[in-house]
Amino acid sequence: MITFPVARPRRLRRMPALRQMVRETLLTPNDFIYPLFVQHGTGVRQPISSMPGQFRYSVDQLAEEAEAIASLGIPAVILFGIPAEKDPVGVENFAPDGIVQQAIRAIKTAVPQLLVVTDVCLCEYTDHGHCGLLNEHGEILNDETLEILGKVAVSHAEAGADVVAPSGMLDGMVTAIRSALDEQGYVHVPIMSYAVKYASAFYGPFREAAEGAPKFGDRKTHQMDPANVREALREADLDVAEGADFLMVKPALAYLDVIRQVRDRHPELPLVAYNVSGEYAMLKAAAANGWLDEQKVILETLTSIKRAGADLIITYHAKEAAMWLADEA
Ligand code: PBG
Repeated sequence: MITFPVARPRRLRRMPALRQMVRETLLTPNDFIYPLFVQHGTGVRQPISSMPGQFRYSVDQLAEEAEAIASLGIPAVILFGIPAEKDPVGVENFAPDGIVQQAIRAIKTAVPQLLVVTDVCLCEYTDHGHCGLLNEHGEILNDETLEILGKVAVSHAEAGADVVAPSGMLDGMVTAIRSALDEQGYVHVPIMSYAVKYASAFYGPFREAAEGAPKFGDRKTHQMDPANVREALREADLDVAEGADFLMVKPALAYLDVIRQVRDRHPELPLVAYNVSGEYAMLKAAAANGWLDEQKVILETLTSIKRAGADLIITYHAKEAAMWLADEA
């Protein structure tokens, strides 16, 4: 190996153009998927207190928001709905005029080229806040819930969703959704599976925003133990075998090693990382206190997620990051 004084790695860091030329990881707005929260009503643009800069929108606000997102070069949004009423099954989840179904139609009408991904889960729609149907002991009925997930995915596809993203971590959810979609002729609608989703405390702000916190207990019987990574590979393998079109790891920052391992194990599929609400809130809080340089730390964070192996990042930072990237270019 050539060593000092011949080898001088600093030679490649001398000027901005040189550094840019040898940069290994490129972050672009095309990497981002922007989460949107939708609720009933009109003229609603309600700030989410634990996620500064994020809002809950009513459907009439979405055309303008979709245009802003698309004009920044962001290719996709992911929708989360807050229903009018909750019940044990969550019937609005698969209603033709449900909040997400309305939102999909509004966005696809206003900006057809903006891709609409939908979160497919029960927790925002059920009165108990759990990700599945429950038995009399409050335990999730895995197989009985799969049928509902299929109905929800089909209903989103009917409304015009481009991609469906099941987030409930139930066994067999990809198989169930694939067959439900295919039976109804939606063979072309891809499944972005939250394949590796941990039982994480970093979802706190989201649960406030989407009103999806469980009313009792927790999600530890379906979401993964943060201590495990071999299990993550098994989850990813199963979802690939079930026909997932994208894999996802969630959260991102405390799980960069998991992103890397899933990327190496499954080079054949696009890999998505979810930079979750708590990760967003931490940086925003530190920046608001003047403790961190907001722009630099956010772009560095997003770059780290790509460097770990993600192709795409679901992030609340998408709009501001896309703006800063455009300024830099
Ligand atoms: C479940 C879902 C959650 C998030 C996305 N989809 C919450 C949960 O699993 O409790 C969290 C996203 C975030 O924290 O940004 N529908």
